[in-house]
Amino acid sequence: MMNEESEKMFPYNAHNRRLLETALGNEPADLVIRDGVLMDVYTGRVVPHRSVAVAERWIAYVGPDADYAIGEQTRVIEAGGRVIAPGFIDPHTHIANFWNIADFLKYAIPGGTTTYITEVEGFCFALGAEGFRAFLDQVRDRPVKIFCLVPPMVSASPAAAARFIAVEEIRELLRDEQVIGLGESYWQSAILTPDDRILHLIQETVKAGKTVEGHAAGAADRRLAAYAAAGATSCHEAVSPEDVLNRLEMGYCVMLREGHIRKDLESIRPLIGEIDLGRCALSTDGADTEFLLSEGYFTDVVQKAVDMGLKPIEAIRMATLNPAAHFSLDHLIGGIAPGRFADILILPAPETMRPDIVISEGRVIAEGGKTLVSLPRIPHPDQLLKTVHVPLLSPEELSVPLSACSKPGAIRTMDIQANGLVTREGSAQLSSSTGTVLADPGNDLLKIVFIERVSGAGERFVGFVRGWGQKQGAVASSLIWDASGIVAIGADDLDLVQAINRVIELQGGTVLALGGEIAIDIPFPIAGYGSDKKIEDLTSEVSGFQKTVGDLGSTLRSAHLTLETMASAAIPFIRITEKGYFRFRENDYVGI
Ligand SMILES: [Fe+2]
Repeated sequence: MMNEESEKMFPYNAHNRRLLETALGNEPADLVIRDGVLMDVYTGRVVPHRSVAVAERWIAYVGPDADYAIGEQTRVIEAGGRVIAPGFIDPHTHIANFWNIADFLKYAIPGGTTTYITEVEGFCFALGAEGFRAFLDQVRDRPVKIFCLVPPMVSASPAAAARFIAVEEIRELLRDEQVIGLGESYWQSAILTPDDRILHLIQETVKAGKTVEGHAAGAADRRLAAYAAAGATSCHEAVSPEDVLNRLEMGYCVMLREGHIRKDLESIRPLIGEIDLGRCALSTDGADTEFLLSEGYFTDVVQKAVDMGLKPIEAIRMATLNPAAHFSLDHLIGGIAPGRFADILILPAPETMRPDIVISEGRVIAEGGKTLVSLPRIPHPDQLLKTVHVPLLSPEELSVPLSACSKPGAIRTMDIQANGLVTREGSAQLSSSTGTVLADPGNDLLKIVFIERVSGAGERFVGFVRGWGQKQGAVASSLIWDASGIVAIGADDLDLVQAINRVIELQGGTVLALGGEIAIDIPFPIAGYGSDKKIEDLTSEVSGFQKTVGDLGSTLRSAHLTLETMASAAIPFIRITEKGYFRFRENDYVGI
């Protein structure tokens, strides 16, 4: 359905006259790409000697000869036998956290991703629908397309409910052409609960004609079926060939994840040549600064698919037409065809995915690995910079009385598993006889604290964690997944309080305190999730954090990522909240 806003995006009205006249040869093109090898995603062929004519932001003609459309003002790019491919689409990512989006794009654009479909959960856990609108303001009118998904905000922390986006609000947000659907709802919270909140969000999204993204980690058979029946249409959590097949068979679009959190692309290796991959897409599921700088964002994911033995046209389809079709955008993006946006890559050779030239909506935006367009930083509204509503703490407030133990002489723990993401419930013997339960860093037993940051009361829970490894000092961060709060882990109460209070003073950040002093502070003032530093500086600060945590005894591969996930409702089996530990299997809250 058309409205005033969508005219900006859809090539109708005045535009289709211009396009058809250019195709017919009655008006010159603005841009012509001559003599390339076309990646024809529609037939799966690689076609030599193809040229493309572009009028304004759209493709007007594709065929053997576009010279007729060259006028005096037409820019001509000689492909000279190089490859013409559609711009890449990352169908599931998280680019709202960590960096200023303008800086992110500077590094991501030269890799050829011209469409990003992103979750926006962090801004919403901080500020609800207002946070979502603030992020939309950051991504409008950028030289590439950034579509946003409204987060269902599944959280283990009850305090997050204060920020939930209501049905009336989602209805309003979905009217925006830049809002493409409902973000990942962890399947358990959608279908294994009598609460219909997520189902109502799904219904509203379907009514608006938009897509419902899924997250079916660990689901199979009846539960996987129930999740699809509830309305989920994609999953980026397939980690084995069986998972891929089960999801495809049930109609899911399978987004194969290859990013900094996990790398699961290998799971299609045994399926190459065996099944139709038309419903498979590639995705990053987010990137950290290191991944962004070293992996070219999405480019190397597509490259890896080719290197694994997929035909280049097949890998390119999984990064263009397949995701476009999933979001019902294939009439606009995902292929080189008349009427589509002129989002075009010139690749040096069919098996090389790093583009020489990146064209977005008819404009050359990167060449030879360099971004050519300006990417202004847009100021954030004031309320997005003041989202940590927690009174400062004193060390006594983190003391845990022996009476809190559910069993005499023992405490319940969260045990971080080897991959640094999954946690399991454990039990540790008490070593203290002082009347309070203390951390025991010599035995890798540290305190873990969750403080909610929305009510103003700073409601909190102090638990215990093993597997973090620090022998002294404490860390705290507001950059935590799926919750509105601060998570801290530490060997002693003084450092814990120093670290937490510094996060509060910064109005968001990651902090390491040692010997009563602040050793590292990385501010994340944008909603408590985003930095305003240059990406190179941010990268070196995060690697400094990793090194220091390592020097203090931790062997975690990515300590920051582990800290981010301690309250997440996405990863089993026991998480921390202000109401206690949340246990996935039991679906309950328990103390130590
Ligand atoms: Fe995700």
